[in-house]
Amino acid sequence: SLVRHYKFSVVLKNTTRLCATKPIVTVNGKFPGPTLLAREDDTVIVRVVNHVQYNITIHWHGVRQFRTGWADGPAYITQCPIQPGQSYIYSFTITGQRGTLLWHAHITWLRATVHGAIVILPKRGVPYPFPKPDKEEIIVFGEWWKADVEAVVNQAMQSGLAPNISDSHTINGHPGPFPNCSSQGYTLHVETGKTYMLRIINAAVNDELFFKIAGHNLTIVEVDATYTKPFKTDTLFIAPGQTTNALLTADQTTGKYLIAISPFMDTVVPVDNLTATGALRYKSTVSFSPTALTTIPPQNATPVTNAFIDSLRSLNSKQFPTKVPVKIDHSLFFTVGVGINPCATCVNGSRAVANINNISFVMPTTALLQAHYYNIRGIFTDDFPGNPAIPYNYTGNPPSNLQTMNGTKVYRVAFNSTVQVVLQGTAFLAPESHPIHLHGFNFYAIGKGVGNFDPVNGPKKFNLVDPVERNTIGVPTGGWSAIRFRADNPGVWFLHCHLEVHTTWGLKMAFVVDNGKGPNETILPPPTDLPMC
Ligand code: C2O
Repeated sequence: SLVRHYKFSVVLKNTTRLCATKPIVTVNGKFPGPTLLAREDDTVIVRVVNHVQYNITIHWHGVRQFRTGWADGPAYITQCPIQPGQSYIYSFTITGQRGTLLWHAHITWLRATVHGAIVILPKRGVPYPFPKPDKEEIIVFGEWWKADVEAVVNQAMQSGLAPNISDSHTINGHPGPFPNCSSQGYTLHVETGKTYMLRIINAAVNDELFFKIAGHNLTIVEVDATYTKPFKTDTLFIAPGQTTNALLTADQTTGKYLIAISPFMDTVVPVDNLTATGALRYKSTVSFSPTALTTIPPQNATPVTNAFIDSLRSLNSKQFPTKVPVKIDHSLFFTVGVGINPCATCVNGSRAVANINNISFVMPTTALLQAHYYNIRGIFTDDFPGNPAIPYNYTGNPPSNLQTMNGTKVYRVAFNSTVQVVLQGTAFLAPESHPIHLHGFNFYAIGKGVGNFDPVNGPKKFNLVDPVERNTIGVPTGGWSAIRFRADNPGVWFLHCHLEVHTTWGLKMAFVVDNGKGPNETILPPPTDLPMC
């Protein structure tokens, strides 16, 4: 195994999209940012130097960070931010993982422009569990605001209103050919007969996305850096924070084929704006306009999302076995949703809030992990509820007296205990799909359904044989998802909705994994350059 050194300079860079130029926060002047390449078992050392006027942190989304929570990155959860002019060295070892993940800023909405790919190759000499592709290609989805993104969120928080939606989606940083601008969209160059592995990353801020290529199917082989049973599809579905490896065979002889990403939202909330497009182009093709897609899923194409999600199964091979915990130590039930609270200073006298079990998480003033490690009192409380205080009809009309509470609360579990969480979507304000991300662990997605979770019959349908393993899972609109994991990583681990608008409104909480006695059961000491608040 190797030690790989990276330098991430956080700098402003003038960037032109949608016919206008503005300075954006970038790593090394790139949008999307540089790719972090490593092999399983390698140690990665990234020196992040902050040259902009914003506080920043970087999160290595999906990297397990065994005992190295100090390198995880969410601001005020595992570290205080890196202040302007300061630097911080993230150091971690990639253990038991190979595949595609992403890194991104983890403070306010800076991840809109501060993100990039993590590519983890298998150990030297270990093949993929599928035929070796001729070539690999990284494809990152994002969103672009014509306005300054930090101003968008700040204004929303002050007014209590929803923030403005983005002006376009992007594929590898590009909206695609745009009227009156000479901008080029993303092009995937292929040769007939060759197979390509697309490492697809959804780094969009607020939108779950469909991805299609005209005239070509995709074979899904991996999600969130875990192998899946291969399956064929003409439409890929991916939530922010999720990653998917898909094989594509260039089985046409010539031509140019449209690539499109379009948003999924099964409620009436308006999303985006502009379907980002690109093209797949066969070598030496001269034709100018690409073959169009026969269909693009409509914005509310829930059946398409279900078909995709239901096809995902872990590989569960001899080499990559699926080990779902059977005995459960903590059986938790979390409602996730958006609501409204009174707000005297807000435009409508109220503001949108989002919560888990009716608690809207308040960011602490020092990092939870520091408070935990040094036993600093008064930063958080241990009383995050494992169940809703009063059960109600979660997917029906909400009880009128239910107001969201604020708090900085954590849920404590012992090292190596097993945890099941049923994530129940609620119908407060508007029912919406929530991609929930857990730091520090992969979990098994053992079940999902519509309506209220049925504690008697629901578990009977759990898949404990080959459920897909991942770090970010969609909780369906008006329904639920169930996950299981073993708390085998000591530290403080964030759980939140990966739609940045919902995180901002408070849809987040943290687990503390503790009581370690053995040498592998406690977090390592903090690095000497750990930023202070
Ligand atoms: Cu990709 Cu806590 O985030």
